[in-house]
This record gives sequence, structure tokens and C-alpha cells, in this order.
Amino acid sequence: MQNFPMKTMHSTKNSVKEKTRKKVVAILNQTLADLTDLYSQTKQAHWNVRGPRFYSLHKLFDDLAGAVEVEIDPLAERITALGGVAAGTVRMAAANSALKEFPTGNDEAGYVAALVDRYAQCGAGVREGIDETAALGDADSADLLTGLSRELDKSLWFLEAHARG
Ligand SMILES: [Fe+2]
Repeated sequence: MQNFPMKTMHSTKNSVKEKTRKKVVAILNQTLADLTDLYSQTKQAHWNVRGPRFYSLHKLFDDLAGAVEVEIDPLAERITALGGVAAGTVRMAAANSALKEFPTGNDEAGYVAALVDRYAQCGAGVREGIDETAALGDADSADLLTGLSRELDKSLWFLEAHARG
């Protein structure tokens, strides 16, 4: 989770200690990579889904992608507010994301199942990040991740309600 090329830390009068800021920035950059990947995978599902429930799933996937997208900017800006460098390009996300690539050639049930896995994985990672940032004493980052995890849980519920079995 901490294997990031963006090690540069800018000086800041922010009272969070530099040692703490570095660790939090690594956690938040991992989350940024995962979310950027999750956003693009959800759009991929939005564009390519086919089947009898096409229209409702097409709309659902777009709503979920939008809910991820609005979380990305505050997350990246928390990284920079802490003096870090946000690893925010799609290439950086692809290199650092913990998610598997989205499957090709699946029907709508396969798409829902693939997204269930990925939203659950992101939710679990973010919950881990809440505990880690709280233990590091950065309540603000823990709070940001808490709001994010609530959104991911809600999206997971929406997806699971569409899943078979
Ligand atoms: Fe669209």
C-alpha cells in the first residue's frame, strides 16, 4: 500500500507532523489510485453492458460512477493539503491500483458481479485506511475516508440488490 513514486513532501505549517503526513499521503494515494480505477471500470460497465436490464443497469452504473467521481477531488486535495503530491493520472492509477482489470465479454449479471467485487474491495481498503489514519492521529483524513466508505457501502448495496442469488 505504501509503494508510491510520489515521495516528495512540500513544507507546510500544517500542525500534523511530517512523519505522519508522509504515511497518510501514502494511504490516501493508494485510495486515489483505487478510486480512479473504480471510476473508469464503472464507466466501462456503463458503456458496454448488454442484456434485458440494459437501460436500468446503464443508468445505475453511470450514477455509481458519478458518486465515485465526486469523491476523487477532495481526496486528491487532502493529499496536497498535507504537503504531498497526488499521484492522479490514469497511468499512475493503473500502475498502483489494487483492483483487477474489468472483465471483457460479460453479460449484465457478470458486470454486476464484477462491480460487486470491486466496490467491496475498495470499501474494505478504505475502512482499513480509516483505522490507519485514525491511529496516526489524523482525524481529518479519517473523517474524509469515513464519508467515502459510507458512499462505497451504499453503492455496494445498490449493486448487490441487482445481483442474482
Ligand atoms: Fe453516459
